[in-house]
Amino acid sequence: MSCGVGGSSCETPRRRGAFVVLGILALIFIALSIFSFLKSRGQVTPDTVSFGPYKATDGKRVFQAYNCMGCHTMVGNGAYLGPDLTKEYRRAGPAWLAAFLPSAGGWPTNAAVRAQLLDPNQQADAGSDSIDAYLKKFPGAAERIERRGGGTTMMPNLPLTRDEIGQLIAYLKYTSAMNTEGWPPKVEVEGLDHRLQLAHGTVAAAPAPAPSAAPGPASAALDPAAHGAQLVKDNGCLACHATDDKRLVGPGWGGLYNAKVALADGSTVTADDAYLQESIRQPNAKIVAGYPTGVMPAYGTLLKDDEVNAIVAYLHTLEKQ
Ligand code: HEC
Ligand code: HEC
Repeated sequence: MSCGVGGSSCETPRRRGAFVVLGILALIFIALSIFSFLKSRGQVTPDTVSFGPYKATDGKRVFQAYNCMGCHTMVGNGAYLGPDLTKEYRRAGPAWLAAFLPSAGGWPTNAAVRAQLLDPNQQADAGSDSIDAYLKKFPGAAERIERRGGGTTMMPNLPLTRDEIGQLIAYLKYTSAMNTEGWPPKVEVEGLDHRLQLAHGTVAAAPAPAPSAAPGPASAALDPAAHGAQLVKDNGCLACHATDDKRLVGPGWGGLYNAKVALADGSTVTADDAYLQESIRQPNAKIVAGYPTGVMPAYGTLLKDDEVNAIVAYLHTLEKQ
């Protein structure tokens, strides 16, 4: 060929070839750079995601204000005390989150999540008001209820308002919708199995039922107050109510029975059995002064009459502290 032994004519075509390759690589680099700035990469933006009236952008502020990242990771950033929350909404869904976030250190039970599904925002977001359909759609919620429901958690009980909870759900919905290319990796430990038995458990403060703490069929034979203590735990009431007179989302129950309750309309009522039953079945019939309307789920369709009576019997036993 033209490029003989020791010939310098080889140099020119080689150099030309190198420039061509370099030019192609530069073009690919520029094209990819432009592509990475395109809006149409299928990535959601937070201003397009909401949960009911709540916006993901507001939820991000709540997430920062409570320093959730001080304990949790989000898309790889943050701390490792609590689990990664990037895909939490997709796993557990809005009703489980609404039952968990304000809870007094307890994991939601089936009944607590079902009560959240009475909320129209929840129904619209989850696409159904049936707990069975919900658990099918969000298997992570079913798994959490089955493995931890009713147990105590290490997550601190934060003083979140109802609006803040809605906003946090919107934010977690947004992060779940982000394309994170498979992040976070699937956790390979049996972390969901552990249940903490902390000494300060809220229900443990109630008079202890029969020493054979065997749950299940035996619980029907318990006396009504002990049955009621179990029911308020299972139905997520303790997410909002303290068993002493502390204010949480709702008023504390300590010393409530037969006390005078000031209502939002300026009148006063005695907390007798009829009032307590009504407060559980139709909480919006009478609103306690200083508390919001429409926050407590109406348990009328969820609890049977004897269950409401058992809860009222339990409320009789709670004293002011
Ligand atoms: C002081 C540390 C701390 C802070 C602050 C904190 N968390 Fe947690 N959180 C935890 C721990 C620890 C767990 C796991 C609890 C357990 O396994 O008992 C947890 C669990 C959770 C879970 C359930 C996770 C699952 O997969 O079941 C959610 C959801 C959650 N936190 C949301 C939040 C949000 C939202 C905030 C901020 C508003 C927040 N956390 C602030 C420590 C914290
Ligand atoms: C999502 C939060 C929430 C849950 C869950 C909840 N409540 Fe309430 N509850 C409230 C709020 C807020 C009020 C005060 C407003 C009102 O009067 O409806 C209240 C009021 C009450 C009152 C009247 C208290 C008083 O001082 O007069 C009773 C009794 C009561 N709830 C019982 C229950 C029982 C029993 C359950 C579970 C079966 C339950 N609540 C679940 C938020 C909640």
